[in-house]
Amino acid sequence: MPALPSVDELIVAFDKGLRTVFAPAQSMRPVPGEELAGRELSEPQRTHSAALMRVNHTGEICAQALYQGQALTARNPQAKAALERAAQEESEHLAWAERRIAELGGRKSLLNPAWYAGSFALGALAGLLGDRWNLGFLAETERQVVEHLEGHLARLPAGDARSRAIVEKMKDDEARHATTAIEHGASELPQPAKDAMRLSSKLMTETAYWI
Ligand SMILES: [Fe+2]
Ligand SMILES: [Fe+2]
Repeated sequence: MPALPSVDELIVAFDKGLRTVFAPAQSMRPVPGEELAGRELSEPQRTHSAALMRVNHTGEICAQALYQGQALTARNPQAKAALERAAQEESEHLAWAERRIAELGGRKSLLNPAWYAGSFALGALAGLLGDRWNLGFLAETERQVVEHLEGHLARLPAGDARSRAIVEKMKDDEARHATTAIEHGASELPQPAKDAMRLSSKLMTETAYWI
């Protein structure tokens, strides 16, 4: 049986959550595509790019929340370490998306606190189910994120080289996160669980494009 988190762990998790949602994210690695100029974007293209990057930013908020939730309830030290490493890269993705939104003159989603809370609860629940399912949930999340990012590469304006470079790099990282989870012994989730995940991420991506 997994042990329930202590009050201290809950306080640390709550603090991380507040920082993720409200404080600017930092990146150790350089922002991908920083050196690229890209073509001049028209006003509608700029608005569209900013909206897509807002969706990706909210996706990274959710990823942070899932990983923090999972790490809180996961008890296997190896699984915990893998989750924490992935979470570190996700916080860089968060920083990259945030910066690109600002460059495009856009804004972050107003619903991020709610998305964080929901994803955190989901992650904590996955952690309580034990490591194989926890990692299985991680692997499936990352696979779906890779598909989603491929969709964004098709939708982003061809001239928006900077956003495209960020999304490309995120996609590489997410694919690696999925592989790591599988190597650590992830179970394959049942199809209804995968479908439910797809449905909830669709709800998030379609809402965050506008709000
Ligand atoms: Fe990410
Ligand atoms: Fe990831």
